[in-house]
Amino acid sequence: MSSELRKPIISGNWKMNHNHYEAIQCVQKLAYILTKEDYAEVDVTIHPPFTDLRSVQTMIDADELKFILGAQHCHEADSGAFTGEVSAAFLAKLNVSYVIVGHSERREIFGETNEAVNAKIVAIQKHKMTPIVCVGETLAEREAGKTHEKVLGQVRSALEKRSVEQIKSLVVAYEPIWAIGTGKTATADDAQRMISSIREEVAKISSANAAESIRLQYGGSVKASNIGEIMSQPDIDGVLVGGASLDAAEFGRICQYRLRPLNP
Ligand code: 13P
Repeated sequence: MSSELRKPIISGNWKMNHNHYEAIQCVQKLAYILTKEDYAEVDVTIHPPFTDLRSVQTMIDADELKFILGAQHCHEADSGAFTGEVSAAFLAKLNVSYVIVGHSERREIFGETNEAVNAKIVAIQKHKMTPIVCVGETLAEREAGKTHEKVLGQVRSALEKRSVEQIKSLVVAYEPIWAIGTGKTATADDAQRMISSIREEVAKISSANAAESIRLQYGGSVKASNIGEIMSQPDIDGVLVGGASLDAAEFGRICQYRLRPLNP
């Protein structure tokens, strides 16, 4: 369970799923399931594809829904000749509050480097949004005993040029790549160990204050049936959910984890 200082954050990364009609249906169902008390206890962020953002934002505004709108990616420049890209500046105009950056699918499939991830974090914070910075190791790296080196290296690079105040407001999601969409999860103990190492690293490169405030998520095959155990870990402040966030009923149960501790 997250410290008193840090409000839990449950994020649904829809990846390239749900067109804007499906997005509206999914958000309507979720709005029906979640209550005032849920939002008081947990920040719920939803990250639909770019083409859905305007529809979901309009719904959130019109119905005064308490979801927090998120995006999955952005370009670091405010505008320019970058065919196919969407800037952090444009997302901010759409009332997007959280932007996932450096997801392993962006790093592995689209070749995003640590430097590009850092530049995007700078742009996202410049536009007063919160980055959700993803880090994680491949199975080969894990088997070679390189998990800490890889993950902590990604964290160090992501936090370059960031002040204590900027680091305090960040979210970092530890998503072991071998656990994404595979049905395999790191054991809660394993996830806790890695996430507490990330917190120690933040203390080392920034300050104890930043380490105490930064929110750290786990991601990789999170479901209603394992959320209780994951959220019971002292350093885990939330989860980044892929597949299970596409179904409003399942995602609703994940967001309401505290109502069924360790017992889905
Ligand atoms: P799954 O929950 O489908 O494993 O995806 C995790 C993820 O990549 C979230 O960003």
